[in-house]
Amino acid sequence: MCGIVAALAASDVTPFLIDGLRRLEYRGYDSAGLAVLEEGSAHIRRHRAVGRVAELAKQVGQGEAGLGIAHTRWATHGAVTEDNAHPHLSVGQGLEICLVHNGIIENHASLRHELKQAGYVFASQTDTEVVAHLLHQTRLKTTDLLQALMMVQRQLQGAYAIAAISSKDPGTLVATRLGAPLILGLGHQTTDVFLASDASALVSQTQDLVYLEDGDLVALSREASGGVVQRRLLDRSGQTVERPIQQTSLSADDVALGPYGHYMQKEMFEQPGALANTLEMVVGANSLSASLFGQSAASVFAQTEHVLILACGTSFHAGLVARYWLESLAHLPCTVEIASEYRYRQSVPLPKTLVITISQSGETADTLAALEHAKSQGLSQTLAICNVPESSLIRASSLRFLTRAGPEIGVASTKAFTTQLAALFLLSLTLAKGRQRLSAAEEQSHLTALRHLPAALKTVLAAESAFAGWAGRFVQKSHALFLGRGIHYPIALEGALKLKEISYIHAEAYAAGELKHGPLALVDAEMPVVAVAPNDQLLEKLRSNLEEVRARGGELYVIADQGTRFEPAEGLHVIELGDHAGLLSPILHVVPLQLLAYHVALARNHDVDKPRNLAKSVTVE
Ligand code: AGP
Repeated sequence: MCGIVAALAASDVTPFLIDGLRRLEYRGYDSAGLAVLEEGSAHIRRHRAVGRVAELAKQVGQGEAGLGIAHTRWATHGAVTEDNAHPHLSVGQGLEICLVHNGIIENHASLRHELKQAGYVFASQTDTEVVAHLLHQTRLKTTDLLQALMMVQRQLQGAYAIAAISSKDPGTLVATRLGAPLILGLGHQTTDVFLASDASALVSQTQDLVYLEDGDLVALSREASGGVVQRRLLDRSGQTVERPIQQTSLSADDVALGPYGHYMQKEMFEQPGALANTLEMVVGANSLSASLFGQSAASVFAQTEHVLILACGTSFHAGLVARYWLESLAHLPCTVEIASEYRYRQSVPLPKTLVITISQSGETADTLAALEHAKSQGLSQTLAICNVPESSLIRASSLRFLTRAGPEIGVASTKAFTTQLAALFLLSLTLAKGRQRLSAAEEQSHLTALRHLPAALKTVLAAESAFAGWAGRFVQKSHALFLGRGIHYPIALEGALKLKEISYIHAEAYAAGELKHGPLALVDAEMPVVAVAPNDQLLEKLRSNLEEVRARGGELYVIADQGTRFEPAEGLHVIELGDHAGLLSPILHVVPLQLLAYHVALARNHDVDKPRNLAKSVTVE
């Protein structure tokens, strides 16, 4: 999604702005731009380009600009054109206002109408340009850019993070946020302050971050060129506030690609380490404790009689797997809902429900809104499972569990998913223990299995070349079918999602028992069918379903456990993983599907980390 970078510094900010935009590229975008105010100049210099940041960088020379804002745009209102790219400019009566914006201004149409009547001419179709003209109009009537921004903020409906500069305020950068993240980075010199929508754009400069709260407004200003930057922070009511300075553990190296070809490849191979980090506290302590999920977790869990899981995409699939664990281990009824559906559905809230949200980024607009909707229904016990400690989701939830996967840059989620599963398994065990459904011996046996999980995952990753070997057979295909049963049905869903999002091959997943109720009609020699075949109690049922596919000439690709007795034959390809991993099997069986999607996308020459039309963190509805 869109990204913001801005700076006020003693030296030229252009290199930082370009570097910051490059670090935000992973989020997905289709155009980029920046604007700077040079020392002593009365005019803002703006550059914009459709396509990659590299295109923008070619246009932008070095200068003496100590103040600047920059943006990567992911089109929502208006096509992918240079005119629609940010920053947006409003010029007239000796004043130039320039700003960048993430999010959506919901009342942009009525504001646009009023501004047109006031004589403003629009150069783009974006909702953002409305804010630029509104700030221009307001700044003409005020003496202070921050005050003008506050007055504008009161007229905006929707979600936004905004950073703005003005030709009349040469040493001032102002910003505000509501429902979209914005972070200050305090430079090592008191003369330098940075701003970004994502910490990864700041860590090349500083680890000292200030997370703005919803409704906050900030003015960064200095008296003279190269002088100390003063920070003025106001809350949504206009009162001066302090926000804590937090040290991020994220470093520039964490977001470096290293020896890998793509972030997705790096992140798949980081999974054993990510799982070990996520599980460290539990397997080290050799016992499960509710306090892992927050101080009040024990009392909340003791009262829980129903679980409601809300999430999107891959995180939703993690929730679907968790339902099997929660019901079988903890005997807790569990509902799993797509966040964007739940938030608009008239559901009946069940008393004593624990609401669990799952999100890699913690900034997914639909998941955040679903959580708010649940709270408005009176469901106040909330637990976030999330990979970003400072995220909005973590701050909005009373209980939390941080997956420790490290930054995930590739749009296709991999290590976030397997660590979410590990977290949800721990939660299921903890709830089972609290409900006297887990004996001490069972607890130890599950902890032992978790201890072995990173090594088992390494063994699966070592079979990469075998899955890469299958990829060539998918390159020319237009469709694929993924099958699984029981707890592996969500894994089939995840495999299909991975394949479609990066290879652009249409893929569907079905619970294998559903085949004969419709999708079997699609099966012919042109339809590769991928089956997730663990050595569990549903194996023979699955085998019968796969016979139905073979009988119709379908080409089968079976990811099996040892001992499943699938014999490779014409039209039947089999790769065996290790022994069946019991309840942890989904965490292992998803990895071959990630590897397959990755290699198919590579073979089709796709930009694996930045698939078309998609964004890493979906911060708009
Ligand atoms: C996964 O590969 C996707 N890119 C996507 O489905 C993602 O999982 C979804 O947008 C939810 O994101 P979140 O986990 O950050 O909330």
